[in-house]
Amino acid sequence: PAEVVPKAPEDALFGLMRAYRADESPDKVDLGIGAYRDDNAKPWVLPVVKKADDVIRNDPELNHEYLPIVGLEPFTSKAAELILGSNSPALTEKRTSTVQTISGTGAVHLGALFLSRFYKVNGANRTVYLPNPTWANHNQILTNVGLQVASYPYFDKDTRGLAYDGMLDAIRSAPERSIILLHPCAHNPTGVDPTEEQWRAIAEVMKEKKHFPFFDCAYQGFASGDLDRDASAVRYFIEQGFELLISQSFSKNLGLYGERAGCLHYIAAPGPSAQEVTTRVSSQLAVLQRSEISNPPIYGAKVAATVLNDPALFAEWRENLQTMSGRIIDMRKALRSKLEELGTPGTWNHITDQIGMFSFTGLNEQQVANLQKEYHIYMTKNGRISMAGLNTRNVDYVAKAVDQVVRE
Ligand code: LMR
Repeated sequence: PAEVVPKAPEDALFGLMRAYRADESPDKVDLGIGAYRDDNAKPWVLPVVKKADDVIRNDPELNHEYLPIVGLEPFTSKAAELILGSNSPALTEKRTSTVQTISGTGAVHLGALFLSRFYKVNGANRTVYLPNPTWANHNQILTNVGLQVASYPYFDKDTRGLAYDGMLDAIRSAPERSIILLHPCAHNPTGVDPTEEQWRAIAEVMKEKKHFPFFDCAYQGFASGDLDRDASAVRYFIEQGFELLISQSFSKNLGLYGERAGCLHYIAAPGPSAQEVTTRVSSQLAVLQRSEISNPPIYGAKVAATVLNDPALFAEWRENLQTMSGRIIDMRKALRSKLEELGTPGTWNHITDQIGMFSFTGLNEQQVANLQKEYHIYMTKNGRISMAGLNTRNVDYVAKAVDQVVRE
């Protein structure tokens, strides 16, 4: 390898984070990575996570033994209930298989690896259709395991909303049994989600075409502030009898970013053989997991399990989620009204129409570059801003800077 390995470009998002950290300007603003910040631009350890932490550290039985291959059961079982709903038919009919993963990335990877091994039509893998745009990492996670990727329209640049007709047409035109990757809520990077009615139509076309849904759920609780409502698309697809995969991250909603807590859920289609299918799938997921990471990390899973299994802590978590999503909504309002007050050319209603952690501003690459160079404001090249990077202290500064670069 020494002679032939070419140098790869630095990861764009982590490169941005590095550039931000190295910037010594007192004015600098980080609107890059999707990580929650409080009003002081500081990472926020959720109060409920601090409590869970105390519970764990005071446990006299605390040790650092290996977890089972598929992870910590009190975590995985409650994580499944969180996304599926505790009375989900998939759970009562025992046709779910959950594996604890290296957060959402690990779940997408394990799901993709599983599909590349076992989901073949006439001996060949099916293409994975990704929304355009999608999370920057999807492409390489999927192609790294040998899957082909294609895209379906998602964002309409003119309306700055969902490219609904194009999306539906592309899903309809994809060969039968294609894999369709869907963000169930708080789409990254656009902040645009289908409505309930649109989800129904998407499910209908997918059923007609026998497509395989692969949900990547990284922001449950961040779209509406309500954990159940944010899971409604997934639950609807399950009601409709799909066989599917869900990747689930606790990075954002519990603020466990570096702890890498997440799950991959496989759901078998209902039917007489569903349990037996699930058993076979579980056995293969365990083999893949063992060969890759042996068993998952324990700490984040313990924190999540402590919160998910204690009704009082769970209720407090919901409040913490409201704090985060509420502050983000306030910042959306503040940024929009400031831009409108300044008479910044263009329309800015999309900032409050879009939901979740991000806003897809419509700023172009040159404007993004100017914001970084002239104002020390960091965002991804596609004009995505992490709303959580805004606060009462910097929102006026950011609005004025945006106003300037738009006019340049
Ligand atoms: C993001 O899109 O900012 C986050 O999901 C962080 C990541 O790992 O890319």
